[in-house]
Amino acid sequence: MLTDKRILLIIGGGIAAFKSLELIRRLRERGAWVTPVLTRAGAEFVTPLSVSSLAGEKAYADLFDLTDEAEMGHIQLSRSADLIVVAPATADLMAKMAHGLANDLASTLLLATDTPVLVAPAMNVRMWEHPATRRNVSTLRGDGISFVGPNEGEMACGEYGPGRMSEPLEIVAAIEMALAEGPLTGRRVLVTSGPTHEPIDPVRYIANRSSGAQGTAIARALAVMGADVVFVTGPAEADRPEGAHIVEVETAAEMMAAVQSVMPVDAAVFAAAVADWRVASASDSKIKKNNGKIPTLDFAENPDILASVSQMGTGRPDLVVGFAAETDDVIANATAKRTRKQCDWIIANDVSPETGIMGGTENAVTLISDEGAETWPRMGKDEVAHQLASRIADALDA
Ligand code: CTP
Repeated sequence: MLTDKRILLIIGGGIAAFKSLELIRRLRERGAWVTPVLTRAGAEFVTPLSVSSLAGEKAYADLFDLTDEAEMGHIQLSRSADLIVVAPATADLMAKMAHGLANDLASTLLLATDTPVLVAPAMNVRMWEHPATRRNVSTLRGDGISFVGPNEGEMACGEYGPGRMSEPLEIVAAIEMALAEGPLTGRRVLVTSGPTHEPIDPVRYIANRSSGAQGTAIARALAVMGADVVFVTGPAEADRPEGAHIVEVETAAEMMAAVQSVMPVDAAVFAAAVADWRVASASDSKIKKNNGKIPTLDFAENPDILASVSQMGTGRPDLVVGFAAETDDVIANATAKRTRKQCDWIIANDVSPETGIMGGTENAVTLISDEGAETWPRMGKDEVAHQLASRIADALDA
């Protein structure tokens, strides 16, 4: 619930602005107070009257219209909120934020505030992928701005790809996470999750059976405890955790690059089932049948992401947690893996087919640390996630 939480909602100019009307309704249903601010372009897509009717509060539109400067100045307006939400956040608004421009009410509020900010980008896929926007996103992330979306899909302009604004309920979930308070408030935690896909050619790849369910559950549990979660995931079936910053990757090499780009973090949990090998020279064109001749694949070793973060020296997270999926001698193998990779904890589990753990809803794990091995009873993956998140909170506090 968001009872009595104050949200300052900045509505940028884009076709996705129509979704901000439903967002206001959903926030009001949950007991939040919404103060809407429209950029000049935002007001071309939705009217101040419609947003203020839904919000039950005055909609602010332009710095120089702010007759209330005496009654409620822009600094006051931004600081009285618990959270500032920018939805839709256009490429232009994000560029202004990244460069500290303050030439209208929305950008002035964003510069004048020390309140946390959540951004829901919406733009054409080419604009989202443009190096200038990539730079701005990474500046804003570095400034501690949270993101929800964008999603991938058909766009109003007819193109397909990432750039669609998240749906109102996804934004509400991200707001709930952003406002969640708990033992991990103020901590940034990385979670890797899912399988990786290693291409053979443009249509075939090597993968594994990881569903990403345990990683998603861990990310959710950490976010519920107030952590700022960065979730780097391979192409997993499981839902993406609400409220986390999601980074989608495909291969182990991409996962490594994504992990390096989100550092520093206070803790890192490596739940991904990363492929140990990739095809050394993946073909750029589809490999065809060739008169019964069977193709041979040569493999190259992938970078070990867990080991490299565990051994990074300066900037190493305070706590690094790895997973060990084993079928034999679970504890001995996992203990050796912890020493070899130099992580702080290993969560070991038996993934023999008869356990039904791989792809199932339950897990039976042993936490291996420098204090030895502690076996937890078999329980749901959500419960394992909750216990692990509590232990991470205790360890970071110690
Ligand atoms: N891991 C990683 N990068 C890799 C491989 C694994 O970050 N290239 C991480 C996984 O996310 C997990 C742990 O390392 O936390 C698992 O170790 P790994 O050596 O991959 O386990 P197995 O594949 O089970 O290893 P082995 O074949 O040695 O049993």
